[in-house]
Amino acid sequence: MGWLSIKLLFTLVVVAASFMLRNPVARVVRFTLDPTHVYIYNDIEYGPTLYVHCRSKDDDLGEQVIPPKFSWDFSFGLDLLTRETEFDCSFKFNDESHLYPIYLQPRDEFDCAYCYWKITEAGPCRTDENHTVIKPCDSWVGGVLR
Ligand SMILES: *[C@@H]1O[C@H](CO)[C@@H](O)[C@H](O)[C@H]1NC(C)=O
Repeated sequence: MGWLSIKLLFTLVVVAASFMLRNPVARVVRFTLDPTHVYIYNDIEYGPTLYVHCRSKDDDLGEQVIPPKFSWDFSFGLDLLTRETEFDCSFKFNDESHLYPIYLQPRDEFDCAYCYWKITEAGPCRTDENHTVIKPCDSWVGGVLR
C-alpha cells in the first residue's frame, strides 16, 4: 500500500469512528458495565413532600413525588466511552427549589454502584442502605435544571 492510501484509510477510520460516536442509533450500543443505582430518601425535617426531577443528557426521568421517609430510585448504564454520565436533579419542598448533581461519573464511578442519598433541608448526604450518613453532607448548588 502506498503512503497516500494509508493516509486515506486512516482518514476513513477516523470519520467512521466519529460518526459512531455522534450518531444516536450507533450510540444505542453503549459501552456499559452492570447498571448503577441511585436511591433518594426524603429525610427533610417536619415531613414535607419532596418533588424530584432528574435528567441526564439522554434521559428525563420526569417529576417524582417522594413522601416523607420514603425513597425513590433509578438505575442506568455508565458511559464507558466518554465517562461523563451525569444526572442533575431539582429538589422541591416547602417553597424551596434546589439543584444537585446526584450522579457524576468522574466523582462516583469508583465510589458506588449503589449510591444511597438522603435529602435534608441543608442538602444531600451520602448514606448506607440504612440511611446512616457515611460522608460529609454536601450543599445545594446554584442554577436551574436544563
Ligand atoms: C442495615 O441493616 C440491616 C438490618 O439491621 C443489616 O443486616 C445490615 O448489615 C445493615 N447494613 C449496613 C451497611 O450497615
